Amino acid sequence: MEKIVEEIKKELEEDLKKISSMNELNDLKVKYLGKKGKITLLTKDMGNRSVEERKEIGRYSNELKSHVTSSISQLEQELSQKELEAKLENDRIDPTLPGTAVKVGGVHPLTKVTEEIEDLFVSMGYDVVSGPEVELDLYNFEMLNLPKGHPARDAQDSFYITEDTLLRSQTSPVQVRTMLKNKEKTEIRIICPGKVYRRDDDDATHSHQFTQIEGLVVGKNISLADLKGTLEIFAKKLFGEDREIRFRPSYFPFTEPSYEVDISCFRCGGKGCNICKNTGWIEILGSGMVHPNVLQMAGYDPKEYTGFAFGIGVERVAMLRYGVNDIRSFYTNDLRFLETYNRVEGDK
Ligand code: DAH
Repeated sequence: MEKIVEEIKKELEEDLKKISSMNELNDLKVKYLGKKGKITLLTKDMGNRSVEERKEIGRYSNELKSHVTSSISQLEQELSQKELEAKLENDRIDPTLPGTAVKVGGVHPLTKVTEEIEDLFVSMGYDVVSGPEVELDLYNFEMLNLPKGHPARDAQDSFYITEDTLLRSQTSPVQVRTMLKNKEKTEIRIICPGKVYRRDDDDATHSHQFTQIEGLVVGKNISLADLKGTLEIFAKKLFGEDREIRFRPSYFPFTEPSYEVDISCFRCGGKGCNICKNTGWIEILGSGMVHPNVLQMAGYDPKEYTGFAFGIGVERVAMLRYGVNDIRSFYTNDLRFLETYNRVEGDK
């Protein structure tokens, strides 16, 4: 027995010398320790042996097994260390190589302006609400005091889907929706940002899809002074503390009286320049006192309630704010454009 064991040990020693990879070492493990391995075979016909012989075989084979196991695991460690070193050698990183730039997304200028306006109005107690882009003619026009055939409908060439539904041409229908939804007919203070659609030919100042922010305040004793004060805060906050506003009489079917609101030019301060087309004033939004018919149709008693409304063109504000002269730049997703306006100095 002893002889056999010595032979196996010797053979193992020779075998170990030849091993140069983990794979080979695994084969070697099988050769000695596997089910049909040399050590297993030693104990194979134990059943036919005497007790004494069995003891001896057991002792020898156990001793041999631990010898083989430790020799193999020693070599295993050496090999894995070598493999690791080789790998590190090959995978060596060169810290002087330029890295792969990770593109970080930014906030779109229209989203920025929208969020800024939202923050301002939320700070004044307004709720931000939304409405559907596929809208009923009833809310987009009729209940805003624009019955079928009303000439003012022509000013908003619309995308009709059926006779009664269209892509909303303004965010004003959200006024109607909000008033109808308020069953208790309590006071309302909302703004609604969103996309609107018109059948315009796209050019530097027109787009068939653009963004508006609607505002609506309904309550008791709401007056034009409230509207003026609110819009003054808006103008100063967005275009600078020195801004003044001016109301020019206008016409919208859903407000009476109606106004176009101008701000004093933030570039020239009112002296006249190319931004304000030498007038000193820049038009920024439409507004007015909610027409009694609109309140009435939405279930608010116009004798008890009054309100004001306004509609801000987000693109217009963003164009002025960032000095963009082509509205289409907002939609073509040119990263060079978007990156530029993400880095406007002093901007949030
Ligand atoms: N909806 C108008 C438009 O798209 C803008 C507007 C004007 C909204 C006056 C208002 C308003 O709420 O009071 O041209």
